[in-house]
Amino acid sequence: MKLENRKILIVGASSGIAAEAAFQIADRGNMIGLVARREDKLEQVSKGLSCRGCKALHWAADATDPAEMTRVFREANEAMRGLEVVWVNAGQGPDMSIADCSASDLTSMIRLNYEVLVNCLVPAIECLRKSGGGQIVHTNSLAGLLGIPRQGPYGAAKAAAKHLMDTARAELEPENLRFTSLFPGFVATERIANDGLPKPHQISVETAARKSLAAIEAEKRNACFPLAATSLVGALKALPQPVRNPLLRRILPSSGSLPNRPPT
Ligand SMILES: NC(=O)c1ccc[n+]([C@@H]2O[C@H](COP(=O)([O-])OP(=O)(O)OC[C@H]3O[C@@H](n4cnc5c(N)ncnc54)[C@H](OP(=O)(O)O)[C@@H]3O)[C@@H](O)[C@H]2O)c1
Repeated sequence: MKLENRKILIVGASSGIAAEAAFQIADRGNMIGLVARREDKLEQVSKGLSCRGCKALHWAADATDPAEMTRVFREANEAMRGLEVVWVNAGQGPDMSIADCSASDLTSMIRLNYEVLVNCLVPAIECLRKSGGGQIVHTNSLAGLLGIPRQGPYGAAKAAAKHLMDTARAELEPENLRFTSLFPGFVATERIANDGLPKPHQISVETAARKSLAAIEAEKRNACFPLAATSLVGALKALPQPVRNPLLRRILPSSGSLPNRPPT
């Protein structure tokens, strides 16, 4: 379904892939609700969208807080008179090697990349069910499909999120709820620009936004991109671990003296 004249709520819309995607569909009569923690960034995106003729609203809120998300979804559903598409995009994948991490570093990834989805999924399902259906989109990652060095804690949380989206789809498709999981490879966003992690087959934010929007409009269940990174992950997955693991270590060598990077 075309993203035209639609009511879309995006959680994690102050920067990166989803902010760019919002700009790409700003002149198509959509009403876009933006959610993230940094209010100044949200205001910038909101103003930019309004300048392009888009009706934009925003809520500054932390998606790791379930009560906050319940409130935001209630307010957005009311202000936008019924949501049609909910895109849960918030998440972060810092460079983290398991041996350098504390237990709380590891569980922080579950909070940022799995609990955020749960906190949005519950009120999203409630809102969309009431209005007879809709689409729920989640930004996952190719790192959720294969254990990648320096992305392990993040990838594990995204793998759990994939499992949840797959189950939600199996349960709720008959109620006209459609679920789309996006699996980008590395994307050249500002937040990870200088983190020192090698990023094979990295794509631009503009390309990632365009591919995300195409997958959402096609209502794909799962969309992996770009092809080169998807193929690399597929090929590595097919190999037995004794062959795959040395290759993985060569593609993403240990960070050596680089400090562990906790999420911001
Ligand atoms: N960049 C990549 O290489 C890559 C690859 C595969 C998948 N992804 C996924 O793509 C998604 C978007 O990331 P991005 O690369 O576009 O980077 P980004 O610019 O950091 O975007 C992340 C967005 O999520 C928001 N966010 C983060 N934590 C939040 C929280 N607790 N509550 C509310 N909002 C929160 C951020 O805004 P605030 O900081 O203002 O809250 C920001 O708007 C993430 O789920 C990421 O895991 C990224």
